[in-house]
Amino acid sequence: MPTASAVQNPTPLGAGIFSTRNTDDRHLLAIEGMSRDHLLELLESAAREREWLRAGGPDRTDLAGCTVLLAFIEDSTRTRVSFEIAARRLGANAVAFSASASSLSKGETLLDTMRLFEAMGAHLLVVRHAVSGTAAHLARHLARPGVINAGDGMHEHPTQGLLDLLTLQDAWGGRFEGRRLAIIGDIAHSRVARSAIAGLTTLGAEVTVCGPGTLMPLDVESLGCSVADSVEDAMSGADAVMALRLQRERMEKGLLPSGAEYARVWGVNRKRVALMKPEAPVLHPGPVNRGTELEPEVADSARSLILAQVANGVAVRCAVLKRCWHALQAAS
Ligand code: NCD
Repeated sequence: MPTASAVQNPTPLGAGIFSTRNTDDRHLLAIEGMSRDHLLELLESAAREREWLRAGGPDRTDLAGCTVLLAFIEDSTRTRVSFEIAARRLGANAVAFSASASSLSKGETLLDTMRLFEAMGAHLLVVRHAVSGTAAHLARHLARPGVINAGDGMHEHPTQGLLDLLTLQDAWGGRFEGRRLAIIGDIAHSRVARSAIAGLTTLGAEVTVCGPGTLMPLDVESLGCSVADSVEDAMSGADAVMALRLQRERMEKGLLPSGAEYARVWGVNRKRVALMKPEAPVLHPGPVNRGTELEPEVADSARSLILAQVANGVAVRCAVLKRCWHALQAAS
């Protein structure tokens, strides 16, 4: 296996390099740089949306007149569908754009394609792309629409970060201070980890990361987390654990041992879960490779909050769409 030093730090981690600062509420580009108040306000708003969703309330009209363009230029199941459900339940006109059947495959640039949607009257662009910085690039160059980052390469996935925060806020009885989350696995390629670390450290929680040296950014501590040498060290006494998927689509070859070897050394299994505080929950952003990063018995156990994360995702996306739409209306 290559040594850690053989890995070119796959994502430069310096503060804010991919985000225009979160000063323009039309956009949601990253969690890094968001204030504590802003985060708590979004969590509160998402919790209110969740009440309505849980109660099975009728569709609403908060986003009436708003066209939401869902541009997922990279595979997605839960993020795309939950944005679509959230947009429709709030009365928006949600349009899904399929990159493979579009002029992108004929060489048109992403920015030109998005300008097209702007000209057609799209108000909010929800964008997922394999290149870090895509959402900020679009926000900088488009005049009017709000841009919501649904995952940009190895940079951030802010709505996933918010849903993770909401899930942990519930599990931790509303208190982040003094809590510690262990994040296990492929940190280097994970936009989910970056958003979670940014949000949790802003709210006063601690994060310990652990994973193969080949999948650990060299300057990971600059994100504000600590690094453990073993999964056992990371999980002992933790208040929650988040296992990450091995993002093979972003890896150069040779970064990893076999799946079985990975499960043995890095997998979140029952024995390791028992090292955490009693009742400390297990999170995973999905999609889960059962038997690799997560033992199936753990994924299906009462301590697994994977489906709660998914449900919270719809509520968070309702809150984010509303906030961006209101800011856009106020700006015009
Ligand atoms: C994640 C993503 O795409 O960044 N999934 C998600 O949105 N819930 C994580 C992953 O793909 O492993």
